[in-house]
Amino acid sequence: MADKFDVIVIGAGPGGYVAAIRAAQMGLKTACVEKWIGKEGKVVHGGTCLNVGCIPSKALLEASHKFVEAKHDFDDMGIQAGDVTMDVKKMMARKDKIVKNLTGGISGLFKANGVTAIEGTGKVTSAKQVEVTDHDGKATTYDADSIVVAAGSVPVEIPPTPLKDDLVVDSTGALEFQETPKRLGVIGAGVIGLELGSVWNRLGSEVTVLEAMEGFLPMVDGAVAKETQKLLKKQGLDIKLNARVTGSEVKGKEVVVKYTDADGEQEITFDKLIVCVGRKPYTKGVIADGVGIDTDERGFIHVDDQCRTSVPGVYAIGDCVRGPMLAHKASEEGIMVADIIAGHKAEMNYDAIPNVIYTFPEVAWVGMTEQDAKAAGIEVKVGAFPFAASGRAMANNATEGMARIIADAETDRVLGMHIVGQHAGEMIAQGVIALEFGSSAEDLALTCYAHPTMSEAVHEAALAVEGHAIHMA
Ligand code: FAD
Ligand code: NAI
Repeated sequence: MADKFDVIVIGAGPGGYVAAIRAAQMGLKTACVEKWIGKEGKVVHGGTCLNVGCIPSKALLEASHKFVEAKHDFDDMGIQAGDVTMDVKKMMARKDKIVKNLTGGISGLFKANGVTAIEGTGKVTSAKQVEVTDHDGKATTYDADSIVVAAGSVPVEIPPTPLKDDLVVDSTGALEFQETPKRLGVIGAGVIGLELGSVWNRLGSEVTVLEAMEGFLPMVDGAVAKETQKLLKKQGLDIKLNARVTGSEVKGKEVVVKYTDADGEQEITFDKLIVCVGRKPYTKGVIADGVGIDTDERGFIHVDDQCRTSVPGVYAIGDCVRGPMLAHKASEEGIMVADIIAGHKAEMNYDAIPNVIYTFPEVAWVGMTEQDAKAAGIEVKVGAFPFAASGRAMANNATEGMARIIADAETDRVLGMHIVGQHAGEMIAQGVIALEFGSSAEDLALTCYAHPTMSEAVHEAALAVEGHAIHMA
């Protein structure tokens, strides 16, 4: 007879592993089922984020950024670094080491918190049962009072560009290139396209990004998106908007891509092609027929604001449910659900989830854009401050970009913060806290910021909401 648990979590990505640890911390007997086979042929924890997402991509972004700095910025600072070169294989080995450390760390956290790690493929077979099939095909059924599905997501594939070996790849393949491609094509100017396009552009690839939509980063504040597009173009990313890919053909070691744009049919040849046109929930086979858990036509598990599915006692979190596909959103849902299962009151503020694109400079935002507010009929005041006027930005050689604060014209409440600039991803936490605490722009304007810091731009943007920035004429 298999063990019975208070909670069984399916999936050990940032949604599932956090839910499992929190549930165990709440005193619940918890198991977490995971099937991901890592590079060493063993089950690894951490899901997309740690294995092939957030962490490896940031390892490559950091290394490639340092390479560009050493090559182009050091001289200006008086640093003679000689002939700077990049050993791509070594960069990849460092990335793999970081992934290994972190994924191994999750197993350690499970042990420390008393979470039972079960290896295999989990399937919800009833409201209180999970069947796990191990890698030898042996199935075991476990009973649980509550079940959390955290099965994550996988890349979307499109018919014109089927994946092919290491020539036409998704984001996972693009994290494994062992040398810098000369001509790199990227389909989709979304988050992955801009981050991975930046990595290889910095290392010397000629990068062309084909984006179907007319607008660039439509989810980002208009002024910030425009500035970002300008900066990325300056760095060498050739971003073609309104470019609809119609087909591709692998010819030897090259990929020929056909697309249409305002000038008609076009053809372009690449040495590698990355397809990054979004991700879709990975829920096929996770729930047995007849259990009664509703999914939508795209495969997302239907949940309420507190991640309850249509079957009492079964919850779903992270990329496999509605909302942004972000690691921190998945983790916060994991904490919320574990707390609810443990009998506590818990909820999550979906209006205060930060987004960061880890290009250089970073793009970060939280809350409403000016255009969102206007569309919702809210009158707003906007305060903006350019990093060109920041002393710390000058010292850092990072004067590009700006911080913008969108506040309600009547109440002064902060509705959104949008930043493009060095460390924007760190600075945006101020916007998240402002939204979470219901701060006014004046609250930020009356706060004492350390000098000299990049964050002073947020202070100045808050002052600028009333037209009173100090360091701007
Ligand atoms: P996942 O991380 O996908 O984990 C799901 C887990 O469930 C997997 O381990 C899977 O093997 C397991 N699983 C699925 N089905 C079963 C089953 N039946 N039985 C057992 N196990 C199962 N987000 C950010 O916030 N910041 C970033 O910088 C960022 N960068 C990214 C970069 C890239 C290249 C990519 C692809 C994604 C990035 N993301 C980033 C998104 C982030 O990775 C996801 O939002 C996050 O991993 C979602 O967490 P999750 O737990 O819902 O799902
Ligand atoms: P995305 O949704 O960010 O961008 C996809 C882009 O592809 C869109 O601009 C879309 O218009 C375009 N597109 C779709 N079909 C197309 C086609 N046929 N031809 C050309 N363009 C097309 O998706 P992406 O970049 O794949 O990333 C998936 C998700 O992973 C993100 O939405 C995000 O949730 C997560 N992620 C988060 C990161 C972060 O937080 N820094 C980093 C990377 C991924």
